[in-house]
Amino acid sequence: MATRNRPHLALVGGMGTGKTSVGAIVAAQARRRHIDLDRWVQADTGRSIGVLFAELGEEGFRDAEQSSLERALELLEPIVLSTGGGVLGRPANRDALCARSHVVWLRATPETAAERVGDGHGRPLLSDDPTGLPVDVLRRLAEERAPLYEAAADLAIDTDHRSADEVADEVGAFLEGRQGAPA
Ligand code: S3P
Repeated sequence: MATRNRPHLALVGGMGTGKTSVGAIVAAQARRRHIDLDRWVQADTGRSIGVLFAELGEEGFRDAEQSSLERALELLEPIVLSTGGGVLGRPANRDALCARSHVVWLRATPETAAERVGDGHGRPLLSDDPTGLPVDVLRRLAEERAPLYEAAADLAIDTDHRSADEVADEVGAFLEGRQGAPA
């Protein structure tokens, strides 16, 4: 049984922390539906993240992200939600996410995250930034956003030098502990 008011499990954290791959494993093991928010945004808008940023700017992307997030959180069936790294930037998103989900923050050093994202293809904040290498942008974003992740998270997990399966086991154990616990 999922807890009544917070049926969902949400993974937050920066780009390259493994939210999508870990979320897919946790969902399969917990027999929950896995929703990757970036994919939902793309399906809802019929555009890639890159095209959304190019056509509507970051704010346009954030509007689309917010409305897809609201829709996902309204689902009654408990889901595992892999969010995008900037989702907590809007206070309304933070409130909605924390009201409906247990939140796990996946962390990685900028060096680890940079290795995982490569040249940042498909991630406009990395690939379109003329001022910095992906590792520098990831470091700056991590510093800016750490307080947001920390405030929202029920649990933080360091993912450096760990496989997605190992991290998923830890998330899964947390999820089991939350099921049946007071919301
Ligand atoms: C973003 C992270 C991306 C995607 C978009 C913006 C961010 O998702 O939502 O490119 O602001 O950090 P991932 O964290 O899944 O890469």
